[in-house]
Amino acid sequence: MKTDLHLFGATGKVGLELIRLAESNKDIKNIYKYSSKQNAESLVLSKKNQNVAHTLAHNVAIDFSSPKGLDRAIDFCVKNKIALVSGTTGLDKSNFEKMKMASKKIALFWSPNMSVGVATLRKAMKSLAHLQNYDFQIEEIHHRRKKDSPSGTAKLLQTDLENITGLDLPAPVSIRGGGVFGVHKIFAMSEDDVITFEHQALNRAVFARGAMEAAFWLTRQKVGMYSMDDWIK
Ligand SMILES: NC(=O)c1ccc[n+]([C@@H]2O[C@H](COP(=O)([O-])OP(=O)(O)OC[C@H]3O[C@@H](n4cnc5c(N)ncnc54)[C@H](OP(=O)(O)O)[C@@H]3O)[C@@H](O)[C@H]2O)c1
Repeated sequence: MKTDLHLFGATGKVGLELIRLAESNKDIKNIYKYSSKQNAESLVLSKKNQNVAHTLAHNVAIDFSSPKGLDRAIDFCVKNKIALVSGTTGLDKSNFEKMKMASKKIALFWSPNMSVGVATLRKAMKSLAHLQNYDFQIEEIHHRRKKDSPSGTAKLLQTDLENITGLDLPAPVSIRGGGVFGVHKIFAMSEDDVITFEHQALNRAVFARGAMEAAFWLTRQKVGMYSMDDWIK
């Protein structure tokens, strides 16, 4: 059975990559596109579609929009019982609370970075645990139009690094400029050497591909809250 994709943030930079990807995916039947002008929170799927939606497996939503846009995507998905993958960042406490509440009714996956490469970087970072007398610093670089700072990924890496080292670390350094898709660096510095871990996104398709794969994975999961750690073990 083919899947219908509901895309929130469809006119955005990542949204357009997702459309390109979805259009060539044989497992996707219809793509429904939503943006700030094309809202869906009050939309209830037609009777025919709604029955399909209740099986969870044949409708899935992906959101790359804004904190407000994510709230709207959640309202739509809860109303129609559709699994939701979101990569939107710059979220506040109320967004996280809303996601938690929604995850009691639908399967909801959120990750501030959808690339499998960053998931791999996070695993590699665990090898820093044994270092003694090192200073640590995270640096991130993104395009000049990025709205949040530090990036959601830098915040995630910071939490990881503090858990790994047991240290209270200086805030990530954020650089904004040009069209950079996303660079994240972790420096471990001693008197004798510097260890650097780095991930560079070479395009936006990497986020779209990760989100799409996560979406198909999510349709096979039960109601609940999921992250990259549940998908990529
Ligand atoms: N997790 C990851 O791997 C990852 C990777 C890259 C980016 N991101 C995050 O994903 C989000 C989108 O990034 P982007 O670069 O694609 O942004 P973008 O180019 O600015 O696009 C934003 C999209 O969201 C829609 N939108 C904005 N506000 C809305 C609202 N109040 N209600 C409904 N729709 C709304 C916009 O619609 P209009 O065109 O109608 O305004 C547009 O389609 C950001 O939070 C970004 O940080 C995450």
